Amino acid sequence: MPQTVLVTGGAGFIGSHTCVELLRSGHEVVVLDDHSNSSPEALERVAKIAGRPVAGTHIADVRDRRSLDAVFAHHPIDAVIHFAAKKAVGESVQIPLTYYDINVSGTIALVSAMHDHGVHRLVFSSSCSVYGDATTVPLTEESPTAPTNPYATTKWTCERILADLCRHLPDLRVLALRYFNPAGAHPTGLLGEDPRGVPNNIMPFLTQIAVGRRAELGVFGNDYPTPDGTGVRDYIHVVDVAEGHRAALDHIDDEPGMRVFNLGTGRGASVLELVRAFEEASGRPIPHRVIERRPGDVAELVADPAKVAEAWGWSARRDLAAMCRDAWNFQQHNPYGYVH
Ligand code: NAD
Ligand code: WQD
Repeated sequence: MPQTVLVTGGAGFIGSHTCVELLRSGHEVVVLDDHSNSSPEALERVAKIAGRPVAGTHIADVRDRRSLDAVFAHHPIDAVIHFAAKKAVGESVQIPLTYYDINVSGTIALVSAMHDHGVHRLVFSSSCSVYGDATTVPLTEESPTAPTNPYATTKWTCERILADLCRHLPDLRVLALRYFNPAGAHPTGLLGEDPRGVPNNIMPFLTQIAVGRRAELGVFGNDYPTPDGTGVRDYIHVVDVAEGHRAALDHIDDEPGMRVFNLGTGRGASVLELVRAFEEASGRPIPHRVIERRPGDVAELVADPAKVAEAWGWSARRDLAAMCRDAWNFQQHNPYGYVH
């Protein structure tokens, strides 16, 4: 059934790819984004790829109840996908209050507006960072959670708040999706990751080196207890993540209450493996040098993706080579990203 979906943070990296997927599946999409970490240009490109635009765009802060009320009053929203948040782990240590305010207070404002306007379906962007320094991998949804930085704590706190709300409100259906390491870009080269300033994540760092914007990659430590000593992560193609959200909407009414799912591939890659895969995909050498460990980094984070596969028949289909190829394609066509 086509739905009208409010996508907060819909102009961002994962949000924009998800808007394409929803439009292509016949849903109506309404975006609320303050563009604090995105460009309105992304939504122009969403329309170009999908062949039709989103039904509404609201430039607003998700914490602003008046704006939320206006959105819910103007559109017959059936479900909400809540991406809008700040996501830089290091920055969250420097300005924790801002992170709690935007990520936690923003979620509270949103669910309270949803409640007042009779909207009962929410897909929430959570993160593998809630697992903290994992002692055993792969991680199932039952693995212990132990956030190690304010960003991760905001996601963990939102999950707790949403679980409490679901116990209190029998109509509410919440899917918390714990993404592992989303990477890549849309294969058209029109949408991708466009971080402001120095990238926090490794893939945009690699693409910026390849395009000549940065000189070399600092590999954060090679003395981890992993096969080659560098950190192992479960990189997942952003289009797979977007398709996961379409599947989530298809299945949100399966059961009432709150459910948590990992979105990962189940396959880990080390930093050096990723560098090699990227060199192969781009045909460009990536100068790299081992430097100190990054404080707060963990050795290995890999999903057990079985629960979502069993529940929805959904699993990630694209491999590391596709992530590298598509990320590189976007960077080549947009060497300086979207025009902010
Ligand atoms: P992003 O920064 O590209 O997108 C977030 C969007 O939200 C941006 O368009 C930004 O302008 C908007 N936004 C931020 N604060 C806002 C506010 N107060 N009001 C309205 N809009 C606001 O990030 P992303 O990578 O697309 O991440 C989307 C979600 O997924 C976030 O909640 C993030 O924490 C979560 N997540 C991301 C990753 C990842 O590695 N990218 C991994 C796990 C979870
Ligand atoms: C990946 C690997 C680094 C940069 C973060 C958040 C997590 C989630 C995904 C939001 C690690 C290594 C990196 C560099 C390097 N986001 N690296 N040199 O830290 O796994 O996860 O993004 O929810 O919460 O913590 O991602 O891309 O920063 O790092 O060697 O210049 O690359 O040590 O092993 P991370 P990342």
